[in-house]
Amino acid sequence: MPTLLIRDIPDELNAWITEQSHSLRTSRKEFVLALLRSSWLGDDDTPVFEDVPVAPARAVEAIPFTFIDLFAGIGGMRIGLERVGGRCLFTSEWDRFAQKTYEAWFGEMPEGDIREIRPADIPDHDVLAAGFPCQPFSIAGVSKKNSLGRDHGFRDVTQGTLFFQLATVIEIKRPPVILLENVKNLRSHDGGNTWNVIRRTLEELEYTIFDNVVDAAAWVPQHRERVFIVGFDRRVFGESVRFAFPEPPAGPLPRFRDILDPRPDRKYTLTDHLWGYLQDYAAKHKAKGNGFGFGMTNLDGVSRTLSARYYKDGSEILVPQGETRNPRRLSPIECARLMGFPDNLPVVVSDTQAYRQFGNAVVPVIVEAVGRQIVSTLGEHLTRRPNGCLIKPTTRQPRPLQGKHCPTASPGTETKRSMTV
Ligand SMILES: C[S@@+](CC[C@H](N)C(=O)[O-])C[C@H]1O[C@@H](n2cnc3c(N)ncnc32)[C@H](O)[C@@H]1O
Repeated sequence: MPTLLIRDIPDELNAWITEQSHSLRTSRKEFVLALLRSSWLGDDDTPVFEDVPVAPARAVEAIPFTFIDLFAGIGGMRIGLERVGGRCLFTSEWDRFAQKTYEAWFGEMPEGDIREIRPADIPDHDVLAAGFPCQPFSIAGVSKKNSLGRDHGFRDVTQGTLFFQLATVIEIKRPPVILLENVKNLRSHDGGNTWNVIRRTLEELEYTIFDNVVDAAAWVPQHRERVFIVGFDRRVFGESVRFAFPEPPAGPLPRFRDILDPRPDRKYTLTDHLWGYLQDYAAKHKAKGNGFGFGMTNLDGVSRTLSARYYKDGSEILVPQGETRNPRRLSPIECARLMGFPDNLPVVVSDTQAYRQFGNAVVPVIVEAVGRQIVSTLGEHLTRRPNGCLIKPTTRQPRPLQGKHCPTASPGTETKRSMTV
């Protein structure tokens, strides 16, 4: 057999190898080896890397995907998903102050009210991310419709709620993956009804649902429990998709003192009046057996949860300043660090708005950890094609290489769904 040297490869093919290895974020050598090991399948000449040693960690991390960011706030989801290869195609957030921050950080002005956006105007995407507000659903409405023998799918049950908008986008756009985040008590909200409706709705839409409460304290020095919901379209991943939420990082918990400024502005120190009021309030509640009203944080521990109302008095997370000085509240930049946001992102709104925004946000490093697990599932269940698309592996028999190198998926083949990159 004659030896094939690199110089024998036509320039056109050489350029294609460079382009493909670049888009798959792998070396030319790895790409060519994978190509040689692959089988060439099907009527559509689609090459599938069946025998490639799938998912060495680096390759899994390199799977690029697209996502949309709904109820985006200041983009905590976006930062996390971009860190694991996501590219944001569309954002919706209606609060003008959050929009201002989002534009300053990402160079894009979000679209406004999700209720006024037609799903058809949202680009196709691989992952739908949303930290949606929690609203109750009317169980009475469901029972009445039930007794009338009428259909009570998500339209009837959730009509008028923001979750309905979300479910409609999911129904129409059918993203292969959904990633939702909410407060922990979403699951107990309205006696469990809210969670039951959400879960049932997503399952009716043919998504396999995983949910877990994750405490941010393993990643940032803040006790912050949030429920994360990850769904996989059964039409793409089948019935037995495997997914696991991330394990918290090993090692000691992060310490609150590490996010503090060494020389904070004096304006964050509580006035005698406010400090006196908080102590009186706490004493009254303690007398009634209700515990403390304020949270004096242990510098070597983790803080309470930062809430959107922190701007009011800062009472849930106070920083002790020794015997001779009143405690202080955190500055907005310290709140950014407490939430795990990069602290080089500028604060472009008032302190009040900034506190609100950080208190409402999701911790990006947790989204990153959950996103990495999603990417791992993509790597396990989907196969990369040389054109960078992800495709459901097929079981068809290998056929010899013919003609084209990198055709796109065409209707009528065994391709379940390709993902955009
Ligand atoms: C819990 S926060 C999500 C925060 C986000 N995950 C972050 O990291 O900043 C919910 C967001 O939904 C936005 N929102 C509520 N109703 C909306 C609507 N109808 N259209 C667009 N955004 C909306 C709120 O302004 C708020 O910023």
